Amino acid sequence: MRPMKILVIGGGGREHAIAFALSRSQHAPQLFVAPGNPGIAALATCVDIPVDNINKLLSFAQTEKIDMTIVGPELPLSLGVVDTFRNAGLPIMGPTRMAAQLESSKSFAKSFMDRHHIPTAKWGTFTDIAKALHYLKSQQYPVVIKADGLAAGKGVVIAQTADEAQKTLSDWMGGKQLGGAGQSVVIEEFLQGREISMIAIADGEKAVLLQSAADHKRAYDGDQGPNTGGMGAVSPVPWVNAALVERVRTEILEPTIAGMALDGMPFSGFLYMGIMVVGQTPHVLEYNVRLGDPEAQALLPRLQTDFVELCGRSAAVALYQQEQLKWDSRSSVCVVMAAEGYPGTVVTGSEIQGIPSPTEDAVVFQAGTCMKDEKLQTAGGRVLGVTALGDTLEGAQYRAYDVAKKIRWKGAWYRHDIGKSLVKL
Ligand code: AMP
Ligand code: GLY
Repeated sequence: MRPMKILVIGGGGREHAIAFALSRSQHAPQLFVAPGNPGIAALATCVDIPVDNINKLLSFAQTEKIDMTIVGPELPLSLGVVDTFRNAGLPIMGPTRMAAQLESSKSFAKSFMDRHHIPTAKWGTFTDIAKALHYLKSQQYPVVIKADGLAAGKGVVIAQTADEAQKTLSDWMGGKQLGGAGQSVVIEEFLQGREISMIAIADGEKAVLLQSAADHKRAYDGDQGPNTGGMGAVSPVPWVNAALVERVRTEILEPTIAGMALDGMPFSGFLYMGIMVVGQTPHVLEYNVRLGDPEAQALLPRLQTDFVELCGRSAAVALYQQEQLKWDSRSSVCVVMAAEGYPGTVVTGSEIQGIPSPTEDAVVFQAGTCMKDEKLQTAGGRVLGVTALGDTLEGAQYRAYDVAKKIRWKGAWYRHDIGKSLVKL
């Protein structure tokens, strides 16, 4: 029998982690990743098709007779890659274009949550700047302003003062900053609490939670500096207990899956819930319709359930009613190594040296890298993610930083405190 053929769409650190998890399956699948990257090329055949060229992805999958496709980033999902593949009779894991609106439209997500009584910050949505400015008058500060559409992580401002809030609105709604994404905004109440990332795998009817993870969104140590795509992640989060996980399941995950089915757009694939725990109560800050990056790089190396089978059950609406996932009991820490200039304009083209081969307790995932003149070079802002496992969170940190220290390129930098603030309370 020929091996199962799996196509992964994407080419960042998250997709490297997905390919890594698939490669450890007992089914030993043949992996294709579009477009992939040099790190992924060690595990899979990289196919030079951009993530938004849905027709080309489809004809590749048809020609290669791909048995299952897994989608990494949100863009192809919001463009309807799942609808296109399903219409052509090809198995694919992920939400339809309609269901992907949970991420691609903040106002869609907010009305959905209100309709289904899922806890979230109080909000208003506006396409008219005068009305938005009027609404601000009734708000307390800080207040949170979000662009309605996909804005690649740049669409959220926590305004400390009325001046800052007004300026954000006129930059986005009045000007062309953020393009179309900023023409419609959500203004919401600022929630004070502790933030976690909870990710589930769903099949349209049922869903199973992965263990907890936490991102570190700010660029610099001590949660200072601008927001980024994520500078590091840990899993599990030490202070997250079983009672909190149960509340996330019953008050957020289950109503979300049931609500989407009721609204005629059953959700399958990865559902990422960005959660603020206020007191003991989890609130949804945002949904993403995919695995988190870098959360995937911290979570997937700990997952012991066969990832090929799990994704297959999601795609086939066949998750077990009481799906129990198996996990490595060790903690993991992923430290993102970034290029000079990130999260602003980055310097690319620096030669990277010192990436070790994966070991039983450390693996380096590549994101913004490319091969040029047979040399591995930087090609993006977030260049690598170093994930290490340890019996304790401190042990995992120590090991991750030990590996990161030995990797070199001109201008390489990273946060030194990934996981440090996540003490058990
Ligand atoms: P989002 O892209 O919606 O996850 O927002 C980016 C970050 O802004 C989140 O990870 C939070 O740290 C912060 N944030 C978003 N919404 C709120 C809110 N309502 N209250 C407090 N912080 C928020
Ligand atoms: N790490 C946050 C995200 O993937 O959106």
